[in-house]
Amino acid sequence: MAVASAPGKLILFGEHFVVYGLPAIATAIESRTVAEVYRARNYSLVDNRPETPSYKKEKYDQQLDSIQRIFKAMGVAETKVRIVLGGDLVTASGVGASGASCSAIAAALNEEFKFSLDREKINKVAYEGEKGYHGTPSGIDNSCSTFGGFIWFKKDLASGKSMIKPMDSRISLSIVIGNTGITSNTTKVVEDVKKEKEKDPEKFKRIFENYMRIVEDAKAALEKKDLNTIGQLMNKNHTLLKEISVSCPELEELVAIALKSGALGAKLTGTGRGGLMIALVTNETKDKVASAIEQAGYKSEITTIGAEGVKVV
Ligand code: PMV
Repeated sequence: MAVASAPGKLILFGEHFVVYGLPAIATAIESRTVAEVYRARNYSLVDNRPETPSYKKEKYDQQLDSIQRIFKAMGVAETKVRIVLGGDLVTASGVGASGASCSAIAAALNEEFKFSLDREKINKVAYEGEKGYHGTPSGIDNSCSTFGGFIWFKKDLASGKSMIKPMDSRISLSIVIGNTGITSNTTKVVEDVKKEKEKDPEKFKRIFENYMRIVEDAKAALEKKDLNTIGQLMNKNHTLLKEISVSCPELEELVAIALKSGALGAKLTGTGRGGLMIALVTNETKDKVASAIEQAGYKSEITTIGAEGVKVV
């Protein structure tokens, strides 16, 4: 029997802009998915991960496809294993739940069958598993889950290939996540942004130029561990996301509450028009920010970003 765990992810800078070939920064979070692998008479899966309503049922077929792809990519001829999934990562949109489970399963199988795959190879297997969920995944989620820390990510628009590079920064930062409780539809929101861009290319040119400065400065600030600057850049990134109309009243309220309660910076993360808000906090402000969010009727969670990647437990 073997056990491995892998973290979920958050996008720190650059959602939506990545779609147009601009770089983004994503990061591993503290919450993890744990995969246990046992040799058994037949294949079976027990999924004990905490979930947002109906998530697991909706993804059941994709999950089966994903696990079969992982077996195939690893050359596990013997699929007589029992997989048990657990951990504290809540399966929800935007936190990279599928990437975390692919990475954890790959690492646990690697351990059980003594394949001696290194991290790069485990990531390749996890990426194959992600295809079961997303068809053509960018690879950002499984890379955050496998390597941990912060990931610099860019899509080459000509080839469609992703460039994924673990960053030098090894800091861990405290983040409060505020949940709007609204599930957003990534395909639709991305499509709407595309239409806006076609209507007003000049506006988008200016926004893209501003964003490029933000993401380059963010990389430097993360390497220098300059928290105040990271916070200010998150605010600036959020303003641009608002300009491309992917925020919503609930996200605006969450950002305002976080900043008023002492967060160093706050922005939406992921698709927007619902989903999650992230606020950069310190040990002194984290509880105040989280409880202000709860008092306003939203769910909150305190987490750490820059967390460790996949590991055998
Ligand atoms: O909501 P998430 O974490 O799956 O992120 C979506 C990110 C977008 O940039 C909006 C879409 C994409 O494919 O990159």
